[in-house]
Amino acid sequence: MKTVTVHASKQYEVRIEDGLLQKAGQQILTVSKACSAVLVSDETVFSLYGATVQKSLQDAGFTVHTFTIKPGEASKSTATLVKLWEFLAACNITRSDLLIALGGGVVGDLTGFAAATFLRGIDFVQIPTTLLAMVDSSVGGKTAVDLQHGKNLAGAFHQPSLVLCDPTALQTLPEEIFSDGMAEVIKYGFINRPELISMLENQYDITDIITLCVEDKRDIVEQDERDNGCRQFLNLGHTLAHGIELQSDYTVSHGSAVAIGMVLITKAAIKNNLCTAETLDVLLQLLNQYNLPTETQFTCEQLFEATLEDKKRKGDFITLVIPTVTGKSELKKFAINDLPAFLIKAWDNT
Ligand code: GLY
Repeated sequence: MKTVTVHASKQYEVRIEDGLLQKAGQQILTVSKACSAVLVSDETVFSLYGATVQKSLQDAGFTVHTFTIKPGEASKSTATLVKLWEFLAACNITRSDLLIALGGGVVGDLTGFAAATFLRGIDFVQIPTTLLAMVDSSVGGKTAVDLQHGKNLAGAFHQPSLVLCDPTALQTLPEEIFSDGMAEVIKYGFINRPELISMLENQYDITDIITLCVEDKRDIVEQDERDNGCRQFLNLGHTLAHGIELQSDYTVSHGSAVAIGMVLITKAAIKNNLCTAETLDVLLQLLNQYNLPTETQFTCEQLFEATLEDKKRKGDFITLVIPTVTGKSELKKFAINDLPAFLIKAWDNT
């Protein structure tokens, strides 16, 4: 088993191994004395793995309650959160009990926020079943729901007690959802991991890829848990991506939006003489390899409008992650008024 220990406000392990879904109960017993566990999942994931995880938890002695949501971003809402809170209250969940998120980013973020807020905070465990959740959202303690004004606008930092990644769960992922996660993997490569780019261009072991990404995320979260400094590197491509998601009413998935966002910010960097065209070529080649989109129908004005509501904005300033060479990026602070002139060049195809 690969184990990555995260030393944040809470210390916890990310354990990565084939077959962990069947062993979830025993694994969780090593970090929790809870009597009751509430297993939160979406209908698709629950139909695939719910019974296995539930049995494993019961075999380990937990009383298990299950709560399922509809798959998709629309479930990451205040309405679902209230239903989950009420369910937890109806099950008489106490501060010494446990929530378990079995699923992708939507399930993880929603469950984490419920855990952060129910009874002013109870423990939770992440069992990510998508690549995106394994390499990014399950680690680092960002939890949230979406508001009508934008994604993740209501949330809390609340670290999990344990993260269990079973790469065999990726075998049942639809190709486009696997690709979605690959956008986040590629992101780590362009932030500061050129060897990851080489691995993706050649043959690789997915467990090694997940471990590398989790180690990178661990290093960042340990330095800047609350997202005031270097954690912002994880936002490469994300400011424009959130705009694309919002403008498309979430019909464009997060990974696809991140892929397009990375292309746009790299184009803008090139046109503003901060990066060379070679970096864009490598990025486009990798995104094409994983069938990720590289263009958007939205205009710079439409996406800029969405960035004004972005939670990454601080007053009249916003920090963007700018690729400078292949496998390296820098943080650059912009006055909001200067941003359109910088970004518009990404739409200039001359
Ligand atoms: N997904 C970005 C972060 O965890 O900061």
